[in-house]
Amino acid sequence: MEKLRIALFSGRAHPGLAAAVAADLGIDLGNCILENFPDREIGVQILDSVEGCHVFLLQPTGPPAADHFLELMLMADACKREGALRVTAVVPYFGYSRQDRRARPGEPVGARLMAELMEGRIDRLVTVDLHTPAIEGFFRIPVEHLSAIPLLAAELRSGLSSSSVLVAPDLGAAKMARRYSQSLDLPVAYVYKTRLSGSQTQVREVVGDVKDRSPVLVDDMISTGATLVSAMDALLDRGCRPQFTLAATHGLLVGDAVQQLASFSLSRLIVTDSIPQSNLGSLPAQVVSLKTILAEAIRKLGPSITQG
Ligand code: R5P
Repeated sequence: MEKLRIALFSGRAHPGLAAAVAADLGIDLGNCILENFPDREIGVQILDSVEGCHVFLLQPTGPPAADHFLELMLMADACKREGALRVTAVVPYFGYSRQDRRARPGEPVGARLMAELMEGRIDRLVTVDLHTPAIEGFFRIPVEHLSAIPLLAAELRSGLSSSSVLVAPDLGAAKMARRYSQSLDLPVAYVYKTRLSGSQTQVREVVGDVKDRSPVLVDDMISTGATLVSAMDALLDRGCRPQFTLAATHGLLVGDAVQQLASFSLSRLIVTDSIPQSNLGSLPAQVVSLKTILAEAIRKLGPSITQG
């Protein structure tokens, strides 16, 4: 039985991570042309032969999500037309995953739409810390749902003290906070937040003992920073120590998120490189790489497929 050849290509969303994953696997990245035509349409040309290959396409669909998603789909289409036997999308950050339900009449279920659009061209998805695990059920293709929590928890461990308390900054983060607490053996407090708009949130209640404690806020993602800002304000009101640690898998940090977070006394901000991190300003930031868990997933999926 001959092993199916693997090829790994990178879209333009995160070539640095793709190169790191390729180096971990001991392979070269595939050659392709990715460009924008004068009218901004995306042009793709796969230059290597992928006939009979299991192709992996690494592309987080962070901002601009629509362009990155479409580029991924165009690459998948090109690979299939060139005879790739199997195409696996490696999407460390899956954009639109917060649209996992209709919060108001007239809204779409964006995460489900993204899942359905992948069908036919993508055979399998590898992704990390979806906004809710239930999103996996939106896909009819198999999903390898990896988690960065063990990596982030290992990084957090060194900076903890007996006064530390984990904080879920909203109820959606409660399960995630409990997973951190099992690993770090810390108590958990919960913030009850309501969202007023895309960039405004309001805290209604804090459940748990935070007085004179050092909060460690954990979430799946930081976008505008509004969730963490309102949670930190509420924790200060309830007498926590003014020394915060923040950890999130996906550090989008859009708009003035960096400045907003910098107005608090932060000991550490830990995020992964699920999207490129070059804009963390003066924050005491640490970036944990996903390269090893992504390479492991590719190793696990790639050679398991054989051809006669
Ligand atoms: C929401 O449910 C998520 O878990 C995050 O808390 C939220 O998306 C972060 O967004 P922002 O930083 O804009 O508040």
